[in-house]
Amino acid sequence: MGSLHFFKNLILDPVSQNFNWYIYRVSKRNSFSVSVYIYIHLTPPAITVSLFCSQTHHHFLSTMTLSSVPLATSDIQIPGARRNSTLICVPIVADSVDQMLGQIRKAKEVGGDVVEIRLDYLKNFSPRQDLQFLVKQSPLPTLVTYRPTWEGGQYDGDEGKRLDALRLAIELGADYIDVELQVAPEFINSIQGKTSGKVKIIVSSHNYQNTPSAEELGNLVARIQATGADIVKIATTALDITDCARIFQVLTHSQVPTIGIAMAERGLISRILSAKFGSYLTFGSLEAGVASAPGQPTVKDLLDLYNFRQIGPDTKVHGVIGKPIGHSKSPHLYNAAFKSVGFNGIYLPLLVDSVKNFLTTYSSPDFVGYSYTIPHKEDGLRCCDEIDPIAQAIGAISCMIRRPTDGKLMGYNVDYLGAIAAIEEGLRASNGTTNVGSPLAGKLFVVIGAGGAGKALAYGGKEKGARVVVANRTFEKAQELASKVGGEAMTLAELENFHPEDGMILANTTSVGMKPNIDNTPLSKKALSRYSLVFDAIYTPKLTRLLREAQESGAIIVYGTEMFINQAFVQFERFTGLPAPKELIREVLVRNT
Ligand SMILES: NC(=O)c1ccc[n+]([C@@H]2O[C@H](COP(=O)([O-])OP(=O)(O)OC[C@H]3O[C@@H](n4cnc5c(N)ncnc54)[C@H](OP(=O)(O)O)[C@@H]3O)[C@@H](O)[C@H]2O)c1
Repeated sequence: MGSLHFFKNLILDPVSQNFNWYIYRVSKRNSFSVSVYIYIHLTPPAITVSLFCSQTHHHFLSTMTLSSVPLATSDIQIPGARRNSTLICVPIVADSVDQMLGQIRKAKEVGGDVVEIRLDYLKNFSPRQDLQFLVKQSPLPTLVTYRPTWEGGQYDGDEGKRLDALRLAIELGADYIDVELQVAPEFINSIQGKTSGKVKIIVSSHNYQNTPSAEELGNLVARIQATGADIVKIATTALDITDCARIFQVLTHSQVPTIGIAMAERGLISRILSAKFGSYLTFGSLEAGVASAPGQPTVKDLLDLYNFRQIGPDTKVHGVIGKPIGHSKSPHLYNAAFKSVGFNGIYLPLLVDSVKNFLTTYSSPDFVGYSYTIPHKEDGLRCCDEIDPIAQAIGAISCMIRRPTDGKLMGYNVDYLGAIAAIEEGLRASNGTTNVGSPLAGKLFVVIGAGGAGKALAYGGKEKGARVVVANRTFEKAQELASKVGGEAMTLAELENFHPEDGMILANTTSVGMKPNIDNTPLSKKALSRYSLVFDAIYTPKLTRLLREAQESGAIIVYGTEMFINQAFVQFERFTGLPAPKELIREVLVRNT
């Protein structure tokens, strides 16, 4: 990798790019007397970097190659460069051709590569006139689909007319045509020798019930290939996140260009990691709520939240494991942070039903690090190969890393570090003290909740010398935790009248008051008057009802975002081995809460 050092000293100005090559002009810090260009060719899983001397880069192929260096793609992060050739296809689903054209233009503006014109959504469709208009006016390559109701679409008219419209689309210059497997042999036969050769035929199969076994999917691919399809498309329904693995298997082994998607919420990762596993394209909707199929992300999310263009075959996969998980801000934070330091990783929301099944299915070395949230922190701990002593004592993990040397799963709990530090800061600021000892020492510290976060806070409080009280809906769990930290247990009802002294500290670690149930609160306002500081682990919303009422009662309040941010710094460093970009992480969190 000595050659890498050489490239680090160059300043690269982008000149032009295509899906798998980039040309940069070497503009400064060089002693060359002629223009020097760097040509980067992505041929996953390797990239080739060549230097060319030329007056105009257009002639670079006939000029002298100074150096040609094969590198692993993970060695170099090219600003703004694409690390995959997976296209983003934007479904166009409007009633009229004018609305469709508006959407098509917007699709280009937001960064789509192809538009899928869904003829079955058009009201009053006049084939020749409308197709001519849409195909000719589109600034992006067009994929024409006319989906019948029997394959999950909107069209329930005459089959002959439907296929005629698709043939017409070919004649009028569409770039791709989608035709359903059931009618594909007959359709492909009917256009044999009659096309210009430009059009690519996508033969598709949709399963709205489930994702079949790997063997069945393999047979399905073979049947589609046998029709003479240029591109195979398989869309199934994910009933579990592990169903996506079979789609990845199809993509990895397919001999022809293939589109593989598992639909529905549990299939989201198949749409994003399509870039890693080499899907020909993925679908991205123009706006949230106007998706043409369940689980479709927006183009904006693909590009800005998941850094879709930077995902490559060797990109390391991370994510937050929970259920539900849609509310999590972690993907915003870690993806932005990964990008800012040029780390070749992605961070996904992972809607997991069974932690064990998830980890057993995604056991490849590229699935490397996870955060854990409700309700999987305890299950996560049970799936670790090795557990750090604090997580062991707490009985829950918040972070899991696959050790690169042997693939073993290491479990940590970093929740308590963030929460306790934030509470101590709040107390110090209110006392105006900078004592080295913990301001929690000797305080009565009431923890509501006895789940993962509750355990973290109770152990953290005990470690700092506080007198711990645990209150929980399920009293037995409060008792169990209280006995482990040498504290007292009580029910939530008892807590309402618990005020042995003033100046107590309260930490809510239940999800009561979390979005969308923001009007709920775990403790009445009346009971809050006895507390000098109130912390809420919830960070969506930032100001919960509990915190608002505590503030009104005169208590210092500490937001859950502080816990989140402190533990995010630690997790980032564990995931990447790099120092956390703290300012950026704070900014992203402010923008997203
Ligand atoms: N700020 C951060 O960085 C951070 C980090 C971790 C967690 N959190 C937040 O902390 C909260 C808990 O997370 P967790 O991982 O500890 O979850 P968990 O392990 O599932 O525990 C959930 C706790 O909430 C209680 N609970 C749930 N619904 C309740 C209800 N309707 N009424 C009363 N109690 C209820 C449960 O009581 P039972 O035992 O009776 O079921 C349990 O004590 C979540 O809001 C999460 O977002 C924040």
